Amino acid sequence: MIDLLMKRRSIRKYKDMKVPKEKVDSLIKAALLSPSGKTMTPWEFIVVEDNETIKKLAKSKQHGSSFLAESPLAIVVAADSTKTDIWVEDASIAATIIQLEAEHLGLGSCWIQIRGRMHDESKSAENYIKELLEIPENYSVECMISIGYKDEEKKPYTEEDSKYEKIHREKF
Ligand SMILES: Cc1cc2nc3c(=O)[nH]c(=O)nc-3n(C[C@H](O)[C@H](O)[C@H](O)COP(=O)(O)O)c2cc1C
Repeated sequence: MIDLLMKRRSIRKYKDMKVPKEKVDSLIKAALLSPSGKTMTPWEFIVVEDNETIKKLAKSKQHGSSFLAESPLAIVVAADSTKTDIWVEDASIAATIIQLEAEHLGLGSCWIQIRGRMHDESKSAENYIKELLEIPENYSVECMISIGYKDEEKKPYTEEDSKYEKIHREKF
């Protein structure tokens, strides 16, 4: 696990290769095994492979999402925010588990923040995505995870990168 966590980096450049069905299936399996508060499972995952839709998703916000256009796969993580007050935590845990499974499968991934971000001056990134993907009213969008075969190399983390000063024992 530590080895996987050291190797996982945000990958924003992908090879022009589809993610095979077995790997997409494993990512879905992993997402659905995510824990949620009171096992409410408020999340929904929209798996997008259609290139035209992915290109539109890449325009969700003005910064930090354009690289998605060249990604073969996006998983949009939404949750029923009327079902539980901790949907943000539930959706975030699921998104992280998807990213860890992607790394385990030899794929690269990157989180694209949607909650609290704007598409333009008048429309939220969330509403832009909800309209595009026909997500019902009671759902909120936390993020999108871009996934594909890595086409950039990033140095794995080392022991020196860990900020041990953030660890406190017994009291802060
Ligand atoms: C909650 C969260 C939101 C993020 N939002 C974005 C984003 O909108 N666009 C992006 O390119 N990267 C985004 N990232 C990726 C971070 O920039 C990245 O994880 C961070 O720089 C550390 O790099 P690493 O993932 O390679 O360890 C996000 C990561 C997290 C955890």
